[in-house]
Amino acid sequence: MCGIVGYVGPRDATPIVLGGLKRLEYRGYDSAGIAVLQDGGFEIRRDAGKLSKLLSTVNDDPIKGHLGIGHTRWATHGEPNTRNAHPHIGATGDVVVVHNGIVENYKELKEELLAEGAEFNSDTDSEIIVHLIERYLSSENDLLQAVRKALSHLKGHHGVVIGSKHEPDKIVAARIGNAGGVVLGFGEGEMFIASDLPAILEHTREVVYLESHQLAVVTKDSAAVYDLDGNKLEIRTETVPWDPIAAEKGEYRHFMQKEIHEQIRSITDTINGRVDFANGRISLPKLNLTKEFANKIEKIIITACGTAAYAAMVGKIIIEKIARIPVEVDVASEFRYRDPIITENTVVLSISQSGETADTLAAMAEGKRLGATLWTIVNVMGSQAMRISDGHILMQTGPEIGVASTKAYTAPLVDQYMLAILLADLRDEIDEKTRKQYVNELRSLPNLVSQVLSRETEYERIARKLVDVNNSIYLGRGVNMPTAYEGALKLKEISYIHAEAYPGGEMKHGPIALFDQDMQVIVIAPKDPWYDKMVSQVEQTKARNAPVLVIATDGDEQIPELADEVMWIPDVFWMLSPVIAVIPLQILAYHIASIRGLDVDQPRNLAKSVTVE
Ligand code: AGP
Repeated sequence: MCGIVGYVGPRDATPIVLGGLKRLEYRGYDSAGIAVLQDGGFEIRRDAGKLSKLLSTVNDDPIKGHLGIGHTRWATHGEPNTRNAHPHIGATGDVVVVHNGIVENYKELKEELLAEGAEFNSDTDSEIIVHLIERYLSSENDLLQAVRKALSHLKGHHGVVIGSKHEPDKIVAARIGNAGGVVLGFGEGEMFIASDLPAILEHTREVVYLESHQLAVVTKDSAAVYDLDGNKLEIRTETVPWDPIAAEKGEYRHFMQKEIHEQIRSITDTINGRVDFANGRISLPKLNLTKEFANKIEKIIITACGTAAYAAMVGKIIIEKIARIPVEVDVASEFRYRDPIITENTVVLSISQSGETADTLAAMAEGKRLGATLWTIVNVMGSQAMRISDGHILMQTGPEIGVASTKAYTAPLVDQYMLAILLADLRDEIDEKTRKQYVNELRSLPNLVSQVLSRETEYERIARKLVDVNNSIYLGRGVNMPTAYEGALKLKEISYIHAEAYPGGEMKHGPIALFDQDMQVIVIAPKDPWYDKMVSQVEQTKARNAPVLVIATDGDEQIPELADEVMWIPDVFWMLSPVIAVIPLQILAYHIASIRGLDVDQPRNLAKSVTVE
């Protein structure tokens, strides 16, 4: 969840590294730092707080050189202050290290190093690494070998980037496990290293992703990759399709607002190349799914975290309804420890925007260990989730920068709908007519998304009325029960308003005791098979004088009689209604948080990718 950027080449490293960190700030930010090799030694600048503080520190006290390494930190061990900010130096100041992950055995290593006379300048686990490297540099006198030996002591998952003044032309990088990525960017006579693509996309789109237990040595015009035993590995660069401009805000105030509006394109792109509308067929080639295997599947377990888990809840209903395959949904942090019942005919399907979420990757590893086939629906190309899966479906939404997920929620809803149709087709669960009907429903979806987005001004008017709400309950049923959970998460994570979600039918079993004039109730009641039940929910809410906002389908005549406010959405096939019904809730949360003057793209305590347990 921290951001790492390295550069070596003919240009001044400082603006390149700082610019890269700026693009990674969403990954984790409570302190930041940069080290640049200047006049034969490392100059370091570090600051607690937002990256903007570091930028002004560097502006006041400039550093310049051709090799630089930078880091934005989301603290796990040690207060988020300057002393604990990366880069870390050891005793000599000759070696600098930035680190992503947790040294799980840092206590015993620290005791060992202290006994050898090491002096620590921070309270972090990461500083262990630079002292271990110094221990081996004195004997090995070779940075790569010293790093290899140092890493052999570490337990846990790590992304590490190292520089040494004794080898001023090179940077060493390493990846152990799943603590975020390490990607090498190939420029013209210059090299880039980053924990995530957006940091380097403006400079190059030729990249190599380090696999776990690999090291890289880069100079301005070379790159070599090794395994932990020191064996040199063959590398092939990949060309990244993402346009760096897409990672900019454009005319929007926040990345989140931009990404809400990008859902027309992201829904189009996630469908693109996968739907043959003329013949009513779906193809998902990267899933490596055969008819034979499709007919062997006995159970699908969908596992994910946060927003992705709510997308999974929708997928369960759709896949069971269309493909008639039993589906379980489990949050990854629970799945990984519950000793799940898995056979060779079980599919474990993960959903992850980043593809680097520690709990999700651990759940995938558990599924693999027990013999399941691993699929993933993932957004970041080359991410660990994609690399360890037997098959994947790329969300194809482009970079999602806002910490609060929006387009990476709606895209997997469509991906699971397409998967359900493909599975049903291969298992002969649906006839051709039904299959063509389901496929055809996708044709109008981008336009329906566009219609909802065009109502933002009306939704914003309602948001202004709710900006001082302190407590809220979201209610939904059936395919839109997860919509309630996702809507509540959006509000709580960016506006810090307490928001709970319940299956509508659960209210009478306790929570309705909370209903009074101070409890804002938000009901998702589009024309889906559960509509009538939700109308009675609105009636029950009004009977307790609780203010109620309802998401309702254009033309509905019952809801306006009951609701205090209505957010209208166009009519849509019920299986795809969660794609449409969630958008007013995204916009509602966005404007409430924005009006409250909060940091919408980088909410407090959160990071875009939770790469630690
Ligand atoms: C959602 O808005 C949050 N950003 C968070 O719940 C997120 O969905 C979760 O951490 C999973 O992230 P992933 O999709 O990258 O695995």
